[in-house]
Amino acid sequence: MAVLHAARGQDSKTLKTSMGKVRLEFVLDNEGRPTYSVAYGDKSVIKPSVMGFTLANDSPLDKSFIVLSSETTSVDETWKPVWGEVSSIRNHYNQVIVRLKQKNSPNRLMNIIFRVFEDGVGFRYEFPRQPNLKYFIVSNELTAFGLAGDHKTFWIPGDYDSNEYTYTTSKISEIDNRKVVEAAASIAVRVAPDPKAVQTPLMMKTADGLYINIHEAALVGFPAMQLHVDNSTYNLTANLVPDAVGNKAYVHAPFKTPWRTVIVSDKATDILASKLILNLNEPSKIKDPSWIKPMKFVGVWWEMQTGKGTWNYANDADTLDANGRLIPNGTHSANTANVKRYIDFAAANGIQGVLVEGWNVGWEDWFGNWKEHVFSFVTPYPDFDIDEITQYATSKGVKMIMHNETSGAATDYERQMDTAYRFMNKYGYTSVKTGYVGKIIPRGEHHDGQWMVDHYLRVAQKTADYHIMVDMHEPERPTGMQRTYPNWLASEAGRGNEYNAFAEGNLPEHETIMPFTRLMGGPMDYTPGIFKIKGYSTVPGRQVHTTLAKQLALYITMYSPLEMVADLPENYAKHMDAFQFIKDVAVDWDDSKILEAEPGDYITIVRKAKGTDNWFLGAITNENARNSNVSLDFLDKGRKYVATIYADADNADWKDNPEAYQINKYIVDANTKISLKLAKGGGTAISFMPATDAGKGLKHYK
Ligand code: NOJ
Ligand code: CA
Repeated sequence: MAVLHAARGQDSKTLKTSMGKVRLEFVLDNEGRPTYSVAYGDKSVIKPSVMGFTLANDSPLDKSFIVLSSETTSVDETWKPVWGEVSSIRNHYNQVIVRLKQKNSPNRLMNIIFRVFEDGVGFRYEFPRQPNLKYFIVSNELTAFGLAGDHKTFWIPGDYDSNEYTYTTSKISEIDNRKVVEAAASIAVRVAPDPKAVQTPLMMKTADGLYINIHEAALVGFPAMQLHVDNSTYNLTANLVPDAVGNKAYVHAPFKTPWRTVIVSDKATDILASKLILNLNEPSKIKDPSWIKPMKFVGVWWEMQTGKGTWNYANDADTLDANGRLIPNGTHSANTANVKRYIDFAAANGIQGVLVEGWNVGWEDWFGNWKEHVFSFVTPYPDFDIDEITQYATSKGVKMIMHNETSGAATDYERQMDTAYRFMNKYGYTSVKTGYVGKIIPRGEHHDGQWMVDHYLRVAQKTADYHIMVDMHEPERPTGMQRTYPNWLASEAGRGNEYNAFAEGNLPEHETIMPFTRLMGGPMDYTPGIFKIKGYSTVPGRQVHTTLAKQLALYITMYSPLEMVADLPENYAKHMDAFQFIKDVAVDWDDSKILEAEPGDYITIVRKAKGTDNWFLGAITNENARNSNVSLDFLDKGRKYVATIYADADNADWKDNPEAYQINKYIVDANTKISLKLAKGGGTAISFMPATDAGKGLKHYK
């Protein structure tokens, strides 16, 4: 690390640094208030905006500061993630540390650390060890993001307990979440007391073509940051999720807050390619990550989501037979024979994992009672023969995936965690899907508050201790922590494909917004791959909002090292030609290129499978049909590839003809341009494999 400028004198109240087009300015105003602003070229991204905190048990840390010293350093390094969209990541930034001291007694210290990248800015607060600020309670974070105009915004409500909303696209001046929250009856717990609050990552587009994304990185020991919107000034302010008694965070100095992030570019594709959030996270704490393996998995799952079977073994927890046992209802999906059917399907198709939900006792009254002692994580239902299933899966080379739904009782889970993970070790389960449906216990805590943020981290750490990979449903939305805990493969923390099964669903535009919002912080267990699009529900008009070809493309556009192959084996059996793409597609990549993207409209991405020469393309559109031409210049020059194109049929349409697709094979090379033709709500998926003799006789693409 080269020190560019030495410490500055007390009177130096303005500090500037830049990287490429991104410029940051820090100013201590006349009242000694720290402020910052961000520009991109000649355009304002964040107007001068205040920083600081109010405390519950002390005077505010907002003004009367002097600059003690400052230091500018520069870093340019590359690092290799354990898994990811690319195999190596450049971390290139200029850093400014501003050391502040309040000039009045008790002369408390607060540092602000800025990092300026080519694609944005990150900053965090640091409270050094000091005699007069030791234990404190944050009542509010004052950080503001003063936007320069009434931007187009892609938002979900700032709900303390759920990220599972559909996105609204509106101007900042129009943001009001009340109607959205009210209408979202399919979300179990909704707590959004501030009608003007939105969740991050918040995606925006300015009238003059800048793309701006605000989020946070490395959320540790602090609540999640939501944003309060001022409809008339376009000023956004940090809204920390409170705890059960209304406080925001309990801090013991020395402490560093999470990074506040502003990613900016004049190209939408740069937003999706940004590694800023990952770069702001700490390197992996797992010394030997060789046991961490990205994978695809099937699951005894969609049948419960669509109502074909149940999680619960009996209909009533309190009605027992003469021997005091539960009375089986005959619809329990997690039974040994059915599980074996999924194991067979996985083994036959090279799918590594099988998830089984509803295997353990507790599901009869699991939800909505805000009670503890719901589930045992070591006690199977009588019709789930764990010994037989383990042995069968092992004989077929398939890994079983554990399911631990807590129904929000995090306390109960903490008591059982070691026992649960020892049980997984004993039966050879190397990964677990957790879940937090319902109101949280400790009662009064929220999914996104400090207590739960600490809890999810404990789960990531403890699973790592037991060499278990984890996929969390209903945690706080990710902030790049998968760099530090690469066993934390994925989270849901957003509105997944499952809403297309049990509720009104996700509009065709949904998957064109998610990579710009929820996925900015990390991979999502979205559960793509639904081939049977209609016919699950008796509610008129209810269906999956997609074409079949688009479901294939989601394996590329919705990046995750853990991808579910979510539909039922019998539905795949009808389209094994299209299923070939799911068999072939990778989940870990050497390289990724965002070819075209516009939030709310379309995304086209190509990725190169790790350790191979195979490329895969995914292109998706919203409710509008779309034609585009993509150049294959990412392929090796002078080499021939077989391209297998899985496209919407000419007459396909997400609503009226969703399962119509066509598959064509051609020879292509780096000079080829392919024209993509996406149906309304449709998509295209393509695999590119180096041509072998098998490719002889195929026509060159024209
Ligand atoms: C909600 C999760 O998102 C879903 O995937 C799971 O099946 C249910 N909870 C039950 O745990
Ligand atoms: Ca969920």
